[in-house]
Amino acid sequence: MSCIENIDKSRVPRHVAIIMDGNGRWAAQRGNKRTFGHKHGVKSVRSAITAAAEIGVKYLTLYAFSTENWNRPKYEVDALMTLMVNVIKAEADDLKKNNVQLKVIGDKNSLPVRVCNEVERIEKNLKNNTGLTVVMALSYSSHWEIINAVKSIAADVKKEKISVEDISQDLFDHYLSTAEIPNPELLIRTSGEARLSNFLLWQLAYTELYFSPVLWPDFGKEEFFQAICDYQKRERRFGMISEQIQKPNLK
Ligand code: FPP
Repeated sequence: MSCIENIDKSRVPRHVAIIMDGNGRWAAQRGNKRTFGHKHGVKSVRSAITAAAEIGVKYLTLYAFSTENWNRPKYEVDALMTLMVNVIKAEADDLKKNNVQLKVIGDKNSLPVRVCNEVERIEKNLKNNTGLTVVMALSYSSHWEIINAVKSIAADVKKEKISVEDISQDLFDHYLSTAEIPNPELLIRTSGEARLSNFLLWQLAYTELYFSPVLWPDFGKEEFFQAICDYQKRERRFGMISEQIQKPNLK
C-alpha cells in the first residue's frame, strides 16, 4: 500500500523545502564519478515535483547549488551548470503543461551567462501558470541573502524610503529572495546528514525538520509521501503549550 493513502489532504504543507544530498556517495557506491550521481538525481527531482503536485503542495523549494558549491572541483561545477541548463530546457514543456511555475532564488549574477539567460527565459515562460511553484535555489546561501537584505534596507533608509522604526520581521521578510512565498512548514534533507548548510536560515525558524537516510538519487515519490506522513504526526506549537493548540480559545 502506498503511503499516499495515509496522507490527510486537508493538512498538506503549503511549502516543502528539500536539501537534495547524497549524489556523490550514490555514485561512489557504484564506482562512478560524482557527476554520475547528479545525473541520476534528476529523476528524483522529477519525482518530488510530481509527488508535491499530486497532493496539493503549493511551493517546493529545491537546494540545487549553494554559494559554497562554487568551491568544488571545476569539472564538477561545470558539469552541474550544464546539467541545470539541460534539465530546465528539457523539462520546460512538461512543466508548462502541468501548470508549474518556476522561480530561481540566489545570486544570479554569479551564474554563467548561459545559465542565467536560460533560467530567466523559462521563469518568464511559466509565469502565468497557477499550480505548484518550484523554487530553485541556485548559487544561493542564507548568509548571502541576509547580507543582501540588510544592504537593501540600509539603502532604503538612506534614501528615506523607510525609517529605522519601520524595520520589523514582516518588512525584513519582504527584502528576502523568498518575499511573497510562505515559510516552509517542512524541510527534508536526504542522505542521513543532519545540518542546514546555510539554507533558508531565516525562513526555517519554525519549520519541521525531516532527515531521511536515503541518498537523493534513491529518493522517490514514496519516500516523499513518507516525509509528509511523518510531518502530519507532529504537533506544531510555535512556542505555545499543547493545550493551547488543541483548544485555540483557551486563555
Ligand atoms: C548534493 O549532493 C547535491 C548537489 C550539490 C547538486 C544537486 C543537483 C541535482 C540533484 C541535479 C539537478 C537539479 C536540478 C534542480 C535541475 P552531494 O554532491 O553533496 O553528495 P555527497 O554529499 O554524497 O557528496
